[in-house]
Amino acid sequence: MIGRRLPDVTFKTRVRDEAVGGPNPYRWQDQTTADYFKGKRVVLFSLPGAFTPTCSTYQLPDFEKLAREFKAKGIEAIYCISVNDAFVMNAWGKQQDLSNVQLIPDGSGEFTRKTGMLVCKDNLGFGMRSWRYAAVIDDGVVEAWFEEPGFSDLCETDPYGESSPQNVLEKLAEGLSAARPAA
Ligand code: BEZ
Repeated sequence: MIGRRLPDVTFKTRVRDEAVGGPNPYRWQDQTTADYFKGKRVVLFSLPGAFTPTCSTYQLPDFEKLAREFKAKGIEAIYCISVNDAFVMNAWGKQQDLSNVQLIPDGSGEFTRKTGMLVCKDNLGFGMRSWRYAAVIDDGVVEAWFEEPGFSDLCETDPYGESSPQNVLEKLAEGLSAARPAA
């Protein structure tokens, strides 16, 4: 993964626009990979689903809380991606009261599939979702990769550790020298 360029895709987001009027003033807005990643050094993390327990209790809120520490280490944005549509991701963002982490809806799973991280979670009735990982991305290119062990379809467990913000911060503090793809 290290050295690979992220796939070029177009994400279908929903943004608030008062000009729309009415009780639900949101409109569609296309956002490309370049819109999110060009010319920036960012952290991207991915998880199996919005509102799921580990993601909602630890991974997303901890990245949110530790945002200042990431900024101090030269990280300009923190993105959370999931194979969920824009309505679900926006509702999750509201529930989590985010001001530092930006959510990216990969509703069709195109980005996740092209990144090689799409797994089948039919055992949970989830369909195709993302394996859990985090990465440091510099101008659209993978600089460091933190993937949970045991990448597989129909996984019975939900490993979480490698892709935690605490681990990514630790590796950033070490100059990322220890960061490598999981075996
Ligand atoms: C969790 O984040 O706890 C979770 C993720 C996927 C399936 C079930 C639980």
